[in-house]
Amino acid sequence: MRSDTGQVFKLEDYRPCDYLIPETDLTFRLDPDRTIVVAQLSIERRDGARAAKTPLVLDGDGLELVSLEIDGAPVSGDDYTVSPDRLSLHAPPAARSFTLTVTTRLAPAGNEALMGLYRSNGVYCTQCEAEGFRRITYFLDRPDILSVYTVRIEADRGSAPLLLSNGNPGETGPLPDGRHFAVWHDPFPKPSYLFALVAGDLAVVKDRFVTRSGRPVELGIYVEHGKQGRTAYAMDALKRSMIWDETVFGREYDLDVFNIVAVSDFNMGAMENKGLNIFNDKYVLADEDTATDADFANIEAIIAHEYFHNWTGNRITCRDWFQLCLKEGLTVYRDHEFSADQRSRAVKRIAEVRLLKGHQFPEDQGPLAHPVRPRRYREINNFYTATVYEKGSEVVRMIRTVVGAETFRQGMDLYFERHDGEAATVEDFVRAFEDVSGQDLSQFFLWYQQAGTPNVTAKASYSAADKELVLEIEQSVPPTPGESRKRLMHIPLAFGLVGPDGADMGWDHVEGATVKDGVIHLRKRKHRLRFGGIAKRPRLSLNRGFSAPVTLSVEEKRADRLFLARHDGDLYGRWQALNTLLVDTLIRSARHIRGGRDAVLPEDLVALCGDIAADDALEPAYRALALTLPSEADIAREMGSNIDPDAILAARTLLVQAIAHAHGADFEALHAEMSQAGPFSPDAESAGRRALKNVLLDYLAARGADAAPAAQHYAGATNMTDRAAALAVLVNRHAGSAETMQALADFERSYRDDPLVLDKWFQIQAAAPGPETLEAVRALAAHPAFSVANPNRLRALVGTFSSANQTGFHRADGEGYRFFGDIILAVDRKNPQVAARLATALRSWRSLEPERKAVAREALLRLASADGLSVDLRDIVERTLA
Ligand code: BES
Ligand code: ZN
Repeated sequence: MRSDTGQVFKLEDYRPCDYLIPETDLTFRLDPDRTIVVAQLSIERRDGARAAKTPLVLDGDGLELVSLEIDGAPVSGDDYTVSPDRLSLHAPPAARSFTLTVTTRLAPAGNEALMGLYRSNGVYCTQCEAEGFRRITYFLDRPDILSVYTVRIEADRGSAPLLLSNGNPGETGPLPDGRHFAVWHDPFPKPSYLFALVAGDLAVVKDRFVTRSGRPVELGIYVEHGKQGRTAYAMDALKRSMIWDETVFGREYDLDVFNIVAVSDFNMGAMENKGLNIFNDKYVLADEDTATDADFANIEAIIAHEYFHNWTGNRITCRDWFQLCLKEGLTVYRDHEFSADQRSRAVKRIAEVRLLKGHQFPEDQGPLAHPVRPRRYREINNFYTATVYEKGSEVVRMIRTVVGAETFRQGMDLYFERHDGEAATVEDFVRAFEDVSGQDLSQFFLWYQQAGTPNVTAKASYSAADKELVLEIEQSVPPTPGESRKRLMHIPLAFGLVGPDGADMGWDHVEGATVKDGVIHLRKRKHRLRFGGIAKRPRLSLNRGFSAPVTLSVEEKRADRLFLARHDGDLYGRWQALNTLLVDTLIRSARHIRGGRDAVLPEDLVALCGDIAADDALEPAYRALALTLPSEADIAREMGSNIDPDAILAARTLLVQAIAHAHGADFEALHAEMSQAGPFSPDAESAGRRALKNVLLDYLAARGADAAPAAQHYAGATNMTDRAAALAVLVNRHAGSAETMQALADFERSYRDDPLVLDKWFQIQAAAPGPETLEAVRALAAHPAFSVANPNRLRALVGTFSSANQTGFHRADGEGYRFFGDIILAVDRKNPQVAARLATALRSWRSLEPERKAVAREALLRLASADGLSVDLRDIVERTLA
């Protein structure tokens, strides 16, 4: 583990490197405990670099140097200094280029951080983003150093018959002592973070793709033996992604092979290494018996995401890590669009907004807030955040809204053309759109520079006499850590004026702001818009499609909101109106309950939910989303302060029950209708029917104590979506019943040898609401199948408990935090990256009611004062407390 030097990296300090490494030849002699890496680096002094003999300083992280040569001759001990973290050549040769040969020794089997070269289930694999390559050899480990890699892998043939790296395959052959070798060459210059190697005994499923210009590509998905049958969906998603990127962005694949490897120990979801994507097996393996519809959708999105990086990230990479959103935000935008095209656009958009508000908004509104392009960091791993990813994607979406769809595509083409083969910046990206549109995007650029979710308030008033609608809109950006004064943003708000028949109304003329193609462009603090020639009073549907990631409050009558929730012709707008009604009601209700009064259960809202459920004109997936009430975390976020999770849970449960009691018979009939299904298919339509069916099952179960119906659904389930949903209903609505205990035991027995499915068993139990869940979670942490070393298992139990169980985690007595703190400290000793990520669950502690706030602070202080904290965890804890 790296020691904390307290160093802060700043965007303004960026300077190109004095040296380049045009070619990198690596030889790996693999061994679990004593792997030898020989790195032969062609080093060149950059044109315009300062004087010859500038020291060459290479990055390392916990490395052991075996030998060092320049142009084949050993380097004298006087000419360099070396530590595990750095190798400095005091006076490199005067020649403009020379070859540096660095030999290091590694112990992959003991690498528990899962960064650099490590072993997962006996398979050698690597993870180099962001700064993992320096755990393999000394290097200029920064993304603006692009190099052409040739890699020779040597390993024991018996335990590692498969030898993979980036690019195209080259020579292979036998070696003495039962070993063998393979050579790989990647012709595309790439940064070190995209390097990858895999060696082991895996099964492969192959396929072929011919690009639209006729290049044949061999596709391979490598998985544990016996899991080949679970790769079909991922392979199909890969081919659909390849076609989509050709059709929608004009981007073709560029190597002879594209390989995906699934490993079971992985810190993140997946990694876009050139030609050799490495995946958490959770996002590859799926069939109807082991994966849920949500798993299928995630696999489709993540396969696409990593594939799309080939152009947005690999062909054009980032100049430095401050530009991370250049590849991540843009690639998330691309995978969102892909999923929207493959599935239902409205449903996908609603799901995205739920996720954005659920993860990014709290980040932007708490102590960890930072701009989409941060200006400083202590640990870059802590900046793979919802802000960089999800808000970064929203900013790209807004560029499209601002310049228009066609111009957006032209801007993307220009960006690809200008910067192919380069390490670029966010400025380069935005300049492409300025150049094709002729627009000045400097005010828009604040979206990359200013942290915080802007607030927008709006109020419409109609005058029948003047046939005029006046719309007053105002923006403000709240202060965030380190940024107290904010500038005014360019906020594009898509909107519609909804007439009495639900159809959008037109207007004769408008003044007060730029209004173009259904979008109002806010640029000033206040705008007063006047729409003329409007014959009847319209309802305002604002921020349609969530065109701007802002917190919107519209001053409007409840009746108008109810009208929009029923009649807005824009499905997103309809959902937004319903959601606002539900959130407002649940907040009021929670406050009543905390104050000892009755819950708030409006009849009109209960009726509306029943009508939406019954509306055949709406696709089942939409109805399922609409009927999934705002989560406890959603309600807490919207309350903002003085949060009491117990009161929130009570308010939500009572509303679910009221809806269930009012519509029980209809819900039963609809549930039966949605249960009629042919053979399983993972497509969006079928998944939507299952989603609606399972949401209804939850309502039906909420009506009473009889666990038998849910138990029957569990027993009768013919796929994992239904089985896991029924188990969750049993655990959440019938805790402690004999039926629940029996189903849990059955699930454990059936899937004890299938880690990905057993994760669901941990996850479902960790999410069960109520303070008593902590005892169950403690017991599960002592279960023989639990291990803090496997990130998936850890996230299933502890990640779920801390992020999806408000009442359990935020227990008023602080016991939830105590348990959590113990686990975090244990994880931090092995895997700092995962520990730090887990610890972000405490980020909203200041919003809690006073008693809980005090115990949460204690828990954070305890973490802060622990000995030997990693840089990663210390960074999160200190910023959270600041
Ligand atoms: N480049 C990242 C993987 C990564 C993340 C490496 C953090 C190092 C540190 C990859 O492209 C990615 O973004 N993966 C996401 C999934 C994606 C669909 C948003 C992930 O792993 O969560
Ligand atoms: Zn990514």
